[in-house]
Amino acid sequence: MSLPESKDFSYLYSDETKARKPSPLKTCIHLFSDPNIIFLGGGLPLSDYFPWEDLEVNSPMPPFKNGIGAPIEGDNAMQSHITKLQKMHEGDIPLARSLQYGLSQGQPELLNFLRDHTRMIHDMHYADWDVLATAGNTNAWESTLRVFCNRGDVILAEAHSFSSSLAAAQAQGIITFPVPIDADGIIPEKLEAILDNWTEGTPKPKLIYTIPTGQNPTGTSLADERKHEIYRIAQKHDFIIVEDEPYYFLQMEKYVRDKAVRQKQADNAKLQHDEFLASLARTFLSIDTEGRVIRLDSFSKVLAPGTRLGWITASKKLLKPYLSLHEMTIQAPSGFSQSLISGLLNRWGQKGYLDWLLGLRHEYTLKRDNAIDALYDFVPQTKTFTINPPIAGMFFTVNIDAAAHPQFKTVYNSDPAAVEQHLYEEVVKSGVLVVPGAWFITEGDTTPTQPASSKENNAPNEIFFRGTYAAVSPEKLREGLKRLGEMLQKEFSA
Ligand SMILES: Cc1ncc(COP(=O)(O)O)c(C=O)c1O
Repeated sequence: MSLPESKDFSYLYSDETKARKPSPLKTCIHLFSDPNIIFLGGGLPLSDYFPWEDLEVNSPMPPFKNGIGAPIEGDNAMQSHITKLQKMHEGDIPLARSLQYGLSQGQPELLNFLRDHTRMIHDMHYADWDVLATAGNTNAWESTLRVFCNRGDVILAEAHSFSSSLAAAQAQGIITFPVPIDADGIIPEKLEAILDNWTEGTPKPKLIYTIPTGQNPTGTSLADERKHEIYRIAQKHDFIIVEDEPYYFLQMEKYVRDKAVRQKQADNAKLQHDEFLASLARTFLSIDTEGRVIRLDSFSKVLAPGTRLGWITASKKLLKPYLSLHEMTIQAPSGFSQSLISGLLNRWGQKGYLDWLLGLRHEYTLKRDNAIDALYDFVPQTKTFTINPPIAGMFFTVNIDAAAHPQFKTVYNSDPAAVEQHLYEEVVKSGVLVVPGAWFITEGDTTPTQPASSKENNAPNEIFFRGTYAAVSPEKLREGLKRLGEMLQKEFSA
């Protein structure tokens, strides 16, 4: 059965996008590789003068049977030789091409790998989708704002969200309106109520920005059933869904406190590829029938942040303005990165890449378990504190009822934010850094404002701290959380 085409959402574009004319120079760049054309049309340096003849790289070899961090030697070593002019492997991008201008959408060998990966991970329901390479999700998000939003436009975001993404929007004069969340992410009923009661005469949100998996900062993951509801609401109120998913492949089993049970589960948990694929959360992309979802993926958390490489998956129609924008901004992601990553992934193959992702899942599960064990060991087990074991990502949070602080009324004037700031100062003094939830609050409102009911907070005295288990050794992590636990114990005992 052939799939339908995506819808046209160009009426949601920003003035900038509508005004952008294609760069005339880009209309002839494809002729650069035409052997019948003597190309005198652009300022392209001759690749003879690129001072790299080849790259020799050593990487680990699938199936990574001793773990993804095992030394790269013996049968765990894979050597790649990427040259200036030749393809040593069919997925290679010769340096003469990757280091040249052109191909703003990304190099074909990399894009083909990503298209096959997309078919394997997502269940696409419209025909004309594609991928476009980016310099990571920071770049992809900034481009998204410019493609869709004007100064004064409104976007929706989780009530606590990644502060850099919020700041990028706010710097462009875009209003970020918070949507309530709980332990399963965005609450669809609240989202619908906000939009059903939207104040007339104020611009309706053009898009929702969400981090569905291993959310930053809360560590929560959006329940699959809720994604269907949110998609329905997006159709009803006609906005775009942007899923920013750098942590998508850091999904794990639920945390189990009993170590014996956990060990048993771990012994049974050597997932086969098909089981792994079936275990992954459903994506907005897989629900999308119209092309109203824009998905941002990144290699930052699964390979390395300094690769500055990611990709957008969306309808071809929606990718067009990104391509035009990128031709005038980043031009293309780094050629070195594209050559190295295409060389690596195409040698690993789709299956080898799944092995890598499975290895990551294993490592992060251990780290998560270690962090949550330590929190249960050291944070006082009272109603004041809630430990939230995540099922994905790099972050854990500890929620605290600020009103339970003995000096809540007397010293802190019944202000939970003042307690949070005080605890932050104390935790740093104790020699560990976790960051206060206040740093991630989504703030913003229209003029005239939205009804008070849209901003209701059911737990006004609740504060939280975010930490990561990604960055330090298990021993350091445990010591850090011991310091956190001791500080909380001291502060909250009367
Ligand atoms: C939600 C979210 N989006 C984007 C980024 C940045 O990703 P990238 O390195 O791909 O720009 C981060 C990194 O911390 C993040 O947490």
